[in-house]
Amino acid sequence: MDKTIPCPPKLNVPIVDFTPEPKVKRIRRPVHLLDREYQEKYKEAVAKMKALPASNQLSFVRQAAIHEAYCDKRYHYDPDHRKDVVKFDVHSSWLFAPWHRMYIYFYEKALGQLIGDDTFALPFWNWDAPEGMVVPALFKDSFANSLYDSNRNPDNLDNMVDLNYLSNLRNGKYTPVSFNGPHGDKAYQDAINNNLCTVHQQQMRGAGCARSFLAEKLCADNISPKGQGSLEAMAHTAMHVWVGRPHTKTCTGGVVNYKGETNCANDMGFLGSAGRDPLFYSHHANVDRMWHLWSTKLGGEGFKDPEWLDASFVFYDDVDNPHPVRIKFRDVVDTTNLGYTYDAESEKNLPWKERQL
Ligand code: C2O
Repeated sequence: MDKTIPCPPKLNVPIVDFTPEPKVKRIRRPVHLLDREYQEKYKEAVAKMKALPASNQLSFVRQAAIHEAYCDKRYHYDPDHRKDVVKFDVHSSWLFAPWHRMYIYFYEKALGQLIGDDTFALPFWNWDAPEGMVVPALFKDSFANSLYDSNRNPDNLDNMVDLNYLSNLRNGKYTPVSFNGPHGDKAYQDAINNNLCTVHQQQMRGAGCARSFLAEKLCADNISPKGQGSLEAMAHTAMHVWVGRPHTKTCTGGVVNYKGETNCANDMGFLGSAGRDPLFYSHHANVDRMWHLWSTKLGGEGFKDPEWLDASFVFYDDVDNPHPVRIKFRDVVDTTNLGYTYDAESEKNLPWKERQL
């Protein structure tokens, strides 16, 4: 990125450079396979993060605010003070995958720190496997559950996810199918197969190169959904909209996006508020896993362009003593550098690998 961009704002603490983690100690597992103890750990960690004062950069409200700041073109910069303000966004370009990887990495570390367990790994919402094709039960219990969020679409919560939700809605082809079956139903099997085909398309057929999978290079004038890669445009976006509620324009006090739309009782379905739903982070852990699988198992090769590799962002690290850390895209290309990886069993079980459209 251009060095003249006044970002981040001036700080009275020095920014330190990220140092790779010496070993992999966090193994991310599917949410639906967590044992009781791990489920409780996850709830406790998020509860503790929610209890931090907003003055702590790693509090839950501040984490959500980071995502809000960097999306829906809310972040403006005017490097040369010429008033041709550029609306900046970490979506819809080649910033998408690495930025979100960094963001949830610091989130995961903070959760582990809050419960005194540096092996705690962010569980992922395994929506690419048939058993994970529903909003995980762990997030739905409304009683004293830090992972619960009431601003989700109640109509979709117990249905089989539709990873192609947006186009199916648009074409009038969406039919709700209960996740609980009957399992022998043709509609049930079709729903699973269609989802597997969508993931196949996203990860393989339509993901031949870095540009098609990870998105287009960011240029000042190309910040539009046209720049998205299949990683962002397909299951990722579908699950945001699926979990959230449709936009309404009549409430007050909601987050407003650049199109003037307001969100009401809707977190995930709106980029500006998505980080308020704890499910967002487990959803993004699976998006991150999709990138990881693409580059480690499917022969995908990331960008070689030094403009991408040397791009950097600053995040806060360390809940007890939050301080800014500068981290580059080249630091996050390989997750082992960040001290985490994905459960080997879940890497063997890729039911979408052989599917053809
Ligand atoms: Cu920053 Cu799923 O979006």
